[in-house]
Amino acid sequence: MTVLDDIGQPSPALLRELRGELMVYKFGVDELMTKLRILSEEFDFAHQHDPIEHLTSRLKQPRAILDKLRRKGLEPSIDAIREHIEDVAGIRVVCPFVPDVYMVARMLGQQDDVEIVRTKDYIATPKPNGYRSLHLIARIPVFLSDRVEKVKVEIQMRTIAMDFWAAVEHKLFYKYAGEAPEDFAAELRAAAATAADLDGRMTALHQRIQP
Ligand code: GTP
Ligand code: MG
Repeated sequence: MTVLDDIGQPSPALLRELRGELMVYKFGVDELMTKLRILSEEFDFAHQHDPIEHLTSRLKQPRAILDKLRRKGLEPSIDAIREHIEDVAGIRVVCPFVPDVYMVARMLGQQDDVEIVRTKDYIATPKPNGYRSLHLIARIPVFLSDRVEKVKVEIQMRTIAMDFWAAVEHKLFYKYAGEAPEDFAAELRAAAATAADLDGRMTALHQRIQP
């Protein structure tokens, strides 16, 4: 089946299929967002501490999905997306303290219908630029009218300090298109270390007031 016409536009059939597929990813995100909201509210009730500061989610635009397939040298098809694009659906979980990040990840992973297919711990091992976060790829079943589909969702988990750094770094690097001068990059790494230090201090303060 040809899915691209001769000027490289996706066929109407593929676009329609892609919209249907994105709907299923949206349902997967909805389910995980509900699970995370339940953990947040129930843990707060049971322990007077809400381990989630805020939650956001996003779906990749069809155009961005097709561009990513092309960059990876893959044919534009739903199967290629399912198999090779792990960030079609994304959730960001921002927690007050580092231990909250690991606790929420553990509680989510323990649920029978959630499968954690990959974990990248950039908190234990930050990226060379200083980026810190815990990344999970979760797989969750979505029950549709005539079938069950499993979808992958990228979950980025971080503290408020890590989120502040990542948001600002993203803005700054966007300007440089990834080619920042070395002193600039060094300053960003130093800022990441300051954010990590702040996380340590805040966690210590929090532990002092724990009953
Ligand atoms: P893609 O870049 O999405 O193809 O994924 P990857 O295979 O490099 O995965 P990784 O888990 O390293 O990164 C996934 C996502 O995390 C990115 O798309 C960003 O949203 C975020 N991320 C990773 N590294 C950085 C970083 O250095 N700075 C910021 N601000 N975000 C980052
Ligand atoms: Mg991505």
